[in-house]
Amino acid sequence: MHIEKHPVLGRQLHKPVTIYFNDQPYQAYTQQSVAAALMANGIKKLGVSRKLVQSRGLFCSRGRCCSCYMTIDGEDHVRSCMTEVEDGMRIYPNMDDPEVRRDIDED
Ligand code: FES
Repeated sequence: MHIEKHPVLGRQLHKPVTIYFNDQPYQAYTQQSVAAALMANGIKKLGVSRKLVQSRGLFCSRGRCCSCYMTIDGEDHVRSCMTEVEDGMRIYPNMDDPEVRRDIDED
C-alpha cells in the first residue's frame, strides 16, 4: 500500500512509473526508493543471505547494513533502500551466490 497523502509532507506521490520485479510489472512513484516501492506492493523478501540462505529484507533503510542488496538493471549488489525507482527498471532479488556457498559446502 502506497502512502498517498502524508499528514506532514502532504501529497508526495505525483508521477507513477512501472517497475519490473522478477519480470512482473508493478506500480511505483518517482522519488520512491526501490525497497519502498516493493514493500508498497507487498514484496518483503528482497533476497537471501550469502552463506545460510536465509531471507533478507529491509533492515536499516539508510544504506548501512546491506540487507537490501538486489540486482537492478543488470548491476549486482545495489542497495535498494538507497536507489530511486526509474520507469522500466528491472529488479531481481539476490537469491544465490554460488561461489560463497561452494566454499561452505567444501568445508
Ligand atoms: S536496508 Fe540496510 S542498506 Fe538497505
